Amino acid sequence: MGNGSKNIYPVYDRLLKRSDKEMLLCQHSVVIWLTGLSGAGKTTIANGVERKLYNEGYLSQILDGDNIRDKINRDLGFSKEDRRLNIIRAAEISGLFMDCGIIAINCFISPSRDIRQEAKNLIGEENFFEIYINCPLEICEKRDDKRLYERARSGDIKEFTGISSPYEEPLNPSLEIKTDILSIEDSINKLYNFILPKVNIIR
Ligand code: ADX
Repeated sequence: MGNGSKNIYPVYDRLLKRSDKEMLLCQHSVVIWLTGLSGAGKTTIANGVERKLYNEGYLSQILDGDNIRDKINRDLGFSKEDRRLNIIRAAEISGLFMDCGIIAINCFISPSRDIRQEAKNLIGEENFFEIYINCPLEICEKRDDKRLYERARSGDIKEFTGISSPYEEPLNPSLEIKTDILSIEDSINKLYNFILPKVNIIR
């Protein structure tokens, strides 16, 4: 504003911040990061939690292999470096959702501690909650909804997590959900009850 012209809308000069958007949505935004083997139940639990949050008026967005690897990360495979890139991009995208006041629920095998640490560093420790969806390999393999374990065992799929590529368990997750013991409904409720106080601002 030059030449004595007055800015009559000073508020427009101020960029809207995450906190403004959180106030609009009446929620605190965080990133919930589900890690675990393929078939452990990450996406199933995330879908149930998203639905419950939605019913209570909370806005969230799920990021997982389906909407990330099929689209923005379709150039990536399953080598160590590609998985790292997959996670970094997912972390960056979920950070954008968070900055928009939206609760991000990420479902990625994210097999190594250093990959998850990198995601945490990008998102910020105070915003990042690591959830271990823990299910023994034998049970994931028995479920084998997508018949990927079978193909991994036969050598048709290479570098398959748990079979021919390593998975490092989280050492100190914010929450652990054992899906071989808990029902789907109890698993959903456990995660929902964990998230609620983190996202609830005076309602
Ligand atoms: S991550 O390791 O990079 O975090 P991500 O969670 O995105 O993996 O994708 C895992 C999903 O991709 C699995 O649930 C499975 O459906 C599919 N997939 C295909 N090939 C592999 C593989 N070699 N290892 C693991 N998952 C695979």
